Amino acid sequence: MGKLEGKSAVITGGGSGIGRACALKLAEEGARVMVADIREDIARETADLVNTAGGSALFFRCDVSNEAEVEAMTAKTIEQFGGLHILVSNAGNLTRGGIHETSLADWERVIRVQLTGTFLCARAALRHMIQHGGGSIITMGSVSSVVIGAGGSAASYKAAKGGILQLTRAIATEYAHRGVRANCVCPGAVATDIGKHTREDSVHWTSEIKDEPRQYTPQAPMMRAADPMEIANVVAFLASDESSFMTGSAVMVDGGYTAI
Ligand SMILES: NC(=O)c1ccc[n+]([C@@H]2O[C@H](COP(=O)([O-])OP(=O)(O)OC[C@H]3O[C@@H](n4cnc5c(N)ncnc54)[C@H](O)[C@@H]3O)[C@@H](O)[C@H]2O)c1
Repeated sequence: MGKLEGKSAVITGGGSGIGRACALKLAEEGARVMVADIREDIARETADLVNTAGGSALFFRCDVSNEAEVEAMTAKTIEQFGGLHILVSNAGNLTRGGIHETSLADWERVIRVQLTGTFLCARAALRHMIQHGGGSIITMGSVSSVVIGAGGSAASYKAAKGGILQLTRAIATEYAHRGVRANCVCPGAVATDIGKHTREDSVHWTSEIKDEPRQYTPQAPMMRAADPMEIANVVAFLASDESSFMTGSAVMVDGGYTAI
């Protein structure tokens, strides 16, 4: 028996990277998973991978920043699986560049997908969970939720990730008495495309500001990027009853990055 037997889960951004690993891991633990992603082709691929591995998955094309699409995806999940116990709000985007060169459109695109998308998905899940005995909401923060660090992502990303942590704490506080737990996973560098772009940009950005005081670049003590499955393992734990006394936590999964 897996630790998520009988549960159903939505995983946003499930088409690739950390989200795909979460879909595979939660399904391995017995959950039925809805793979929601703005890209239907990769969402379908993840669902196929889960089903081929013996799990149970469906996919749904959904832009998490679109209220109607999030509502439709959540309703479909509940209809198909008969309930919703776990939300992994993971979909994310990223821009680069200094604050002075950030357009309003770029700023809003990141805030809209990362922070507003998390709000929309959590709200839709909460409306079901509080009527049906509770659930577990896992949001995808970052080390950027708690420190600025030396990564090359724009301030919009860091502001959104800080907001996601505070939104998670608000959910935990408002809904503990209704049986809902909410925790924010905060990864350091993870070996995905978004991580690759972030690291490449870090080099670019540092060279662009060579006349400014140099950025201090702390190395994570473990000196490597995480495999996406190392994040998914933590997400599965937070989704399960094994973490039954955890809510409102910022769970650092960063190879020691924020310990320095
Ligand atoms: N990779 C890292 O180093 C790292 C570190 C800390 C946090 N994170 C966070 O982890 C999450 C997953 O990132 P990843 O590294 O797996 O990157 P990724 O690019 O592989 O995955 C992101 C997924 O989100 C989907 N997506 C993007 N915009 C969407 C939208 N509007 N609606 C629905 N889906 C959308 C993409 O299609 C993609 O499948 C993000 O929130 C990211 O900020 C990543």
